[in-house]
This record gives sequence, C-alpha cells and structure tokens, in this order.
Amino acid sequence: MPHSIYPPASTIKKVNPVKVAVIGVGSVGSTTAYTLLFSEMISEVVLIDINTHKAEGESMDLNHAAPSTTGSVVYVGDYSDCADAAIVIITGGANQKPGQTRMDLAATNARILQGIIPKIVEYAPKTILLIATNPVDVLTYVSYKVSGFPLNRVIGSGTLLDSARLKYHLSQHFKTSSKNVDAFIVGEHGDSSLPVWSHVKISGIRLRDYCEQSQQAYDHELFHQMFEKTRNAAYDIIERKGYTAYGIAAGILRIVETILKDGGSPLTVSTVGNYFGIEQVALSVPTKLNRNGAHSPVDLSFDIKEIELIKKSALQIKSVCSTLEL
Ligand code: LAC
Repeated sequence: MPHSIYPPASTIKKVNPVKVAVIGVGSVGSTTAYTLLFSEMISEVVLIDINTHKAEGESMDLNHAAPSTTGSVVYVGDYSDCADAAIVIITGGANQKPGQTRMDLAATNARILQGIIPKIVEYAPKTILLIATNPVDVLTYVSYKVSGFPLNRVIGSGTLLDSARLKYHLSQHFKTSSKNVDAFIVGEHGDSSLPVWSHVKISGIRLRDYCEQSQQAYDHELFHQMFEKTRNAAYDIIERKGYTAYGIAAGILRIVETILKDGGSPLTVSTVGNYFGIEQVALSVPTKLNRNGAHSPVDLSFDIKEIELIKKSALQIKSVCSTLEL
C-alpha cells in the first residue's frame, strides 16, 4: 500500500489553499518541493515521478518537515492530481554530467517533455507551466508548442539563477548584502547569456556612480571575471557535487510566490516572444509576472552591443529548437 494517500481536506489548514505540482523528484524537484514548504502561500505539494517509490520516500521525508515549516501537505500523485494545481513545475529529465553543456540535453529532454506535457494539459488545461528542465529556454519553447497554452502561461526559470549568482559575486566584491544588489543576466540560461552592466545598481545607485561615491575602481575586467564565474557556475558546482539544486529551487520559489502574489519585481524568466526581430524563441529578459503568469517584458534600454548579443543568443536557442521534431 503506497504511503502517499490523498490528504483529507481537514489536514489543509491554510486560508487560501493553493496546490502546486512538481514533476520529477530528482535533486532539483525534491529540493524545490522542500523549498515550497517554507511558503505560507502554498498548502499542497503533489509529487509526480515515474519512480513512485522514490517519490513516496521524498513525500514521507518532506511531510516530516511540514510541522516545523508551514504545515503544507505533500503527497505522491499521478497526472490527474495536476487538476486544480495553480502551477505545475517541470523538473524531470536528464541532468548535465560533468563536461556536458545544457544544450547537449536538448533532444533527450525534449522527448521527455513531449511525453509529459500532454498529460498535464489533459488534467490542468488552465494551469501555469513553470519549466526548470534544461536546456530551459529550448524546453520552454517546446512546452509552449506542445501544450498549446497562451504565451503567458508557459514560463521557464531562465536566467533568474544566473542573475542571482551575479548578485552574489557583486555583493562579495562590494561587501554588501546580495539583497542590496540589482543585477540581471539576459538571454539563454547557458553559454550565450550576457550581463546588462548599464542596469546594475548597488544600494539603488547605478554601478558607475556607486564606484565613484565609494571611491572604488570601476574595474570592467574584474566585473567581466565575475560574469565568467557566473556563467560557469553550474559546471564548477557539478564538477564538485554532481548537480546543482539550492539556487534553482530558491529561484523557482521566487517565481511561484511572485505569481501567487499577483505581482512583484520583474524577474528574468524565459518566455516565448519576439526579441529584436527574432520571433518565436524563448529567452530571458526582466519580465513582470502576475496571477495569470508572465504578462509583459520590461521595456529596458539595452545598448547596441547588448542587443546584438541578445539576438545572437536568440539565434543559438532557435537553431537548437529547429533540430527538434516538434
Ligand atoms: C544551473 C542549472 C539549474 O545553472 O542549469 O545550476
């Protein structure tokens, strides 16, 4: 008898019960499920994985955290349990191995998502898809095409994690909290991503002015090294511990709560759109989210070089999508 039975409604204590489904209970999925337990906005987390035995173990373990967090309930379900889920988070698929790029996973994970998405759509035709599986921009596009959902309800975690990593490096350099740093990476969540230095702020002050006011050098070479460390972070972590999980899980929680709160700061998530003339491609720019999903990219003044690099990133993503049978 599986340990995971649907929790009786009485165990759901929250005022506005919100269910979130997590597809895939690997390192990212299980860490994401754990992170969701800390949100007062979520009452139910359903875990769906082809390996139900593993999912049951994760569910049992997670439910032992619930009394010490927000009392949410976790259970193992099947795709029918996606019904009335506000958001379905997709983390299933092959992970990067040491030395592999995210794009190396495109064909394998596209096939996996082509199998998963129709089952979600069958039971949750109004939900919001939040894709974290890599290559996330390619798979955001695949999910959009396969689901038939409107653009706003298909969101990839995108470069939110890269932006967080850059904030961390800048905070270490300027000896301030990473919460005082506004910085974002745009484009592909991968090797063709790029930083938007002209919009970086430290304590609300533009980077160049902050350096001047704090009598520190505006050292572009140093900032570029920070970006290189950001772009290579996953490789460096995977080479040491075999996978990444905490950064992406925290980013997913940020996206989920911004949606459920019906708004918040724009986030660099991946959505399908027309980027500087390159149509029907998913990549990340700062985007506003609300209860209906992603609703508009923030109109930022990118400089000529930034626009060229964003277009180059878009073409890279598009070229990988064109190799898939969609
Ligand atoms: C990373 C994975 C989530 O960048 O792509 O850690």
